[in-house]
Amino acid sequence: MNRKLTVALTKGRILKETIPLLARAGIEPLEDIGLSRKLVFDTSHEDVQLVVIRGTDVPTYVRHGAADLGVVGKDILLEHGAEGLYEPLDLGIARCRLMTAGPVGWQSSGARIRVATKFVNITRRHFASVGVHADVIKLYGAMELAPIMNLADLIVDIVDTGNTLRANGMEPLDEIACISSRLIVNKAAMRSRCGAVQRVVDDLSEIVHAAT
Ligand code: PRP
Repeated sequence: MNRKLTVALTKGRILKETIPLLARAGIEPLEDIGLSRKLVFDTSHEDVQLVVIRGTDVPTYVRHGAADLGVVGKDILLEHGAEGLYEPLDLGIARCRLMTAGPVGWQSSGARIRVATKFVNITRRHFASVGVHADVIKLYGAMELAPIMNLADLIVDIVDTGNTLRANGMEPLDEIACISSRLIVNKAAMRSRCGAVQRVVDDLSEIVHAAT
């Protein structure tokens, strides 16, 4: 089996923190990912290539073995499930919190509340666990707009600096989960390509633990 190991990376802000981590493990893309429209990148490590995709697609590529490893936010794993995947390492990057949030001073005025989010499953589980009936409205971005436009009462979203909430007259309420990016591995690859996969896991593990 001579195929290169394929690592699926989440584009966007996770990617910015993943690149330096991989570089320390001797895996550097041969061109600037940010400046290219390509999706597959050879690296300085002759046995490793990178693909750069949306976070929600990373577990799919890894689960089906189209990629051997992946880097993805815990929020995606909580929302879409981690079946068929090993999650051997918390990379400790792209840390943030998944929270409920509402307009400053918001008080519940009825038995039902409307919650806008892209994390539909997490949101349903959260409100069920606290015994609140929530009508969940699926959005794909700009959740903070929903209460302003009276589409929803609350939102469930990622909070990092809190600037986006503040800029839109909102405040964080309950924390649902602490989020960071995780290394995930295809279960079959962990067996069939054990040496190569384990080396990448071990190298990254050493780097992450040295940094903490
Ligand atoms: C995320 C999230 C918030 C914002 C929070 O959006 O959905 O809008 O970041 O960050 P802050 O607390 O530092 O303001 P992102 O920019 O990743 O875009 P997306 O919603 O399209 O994923």
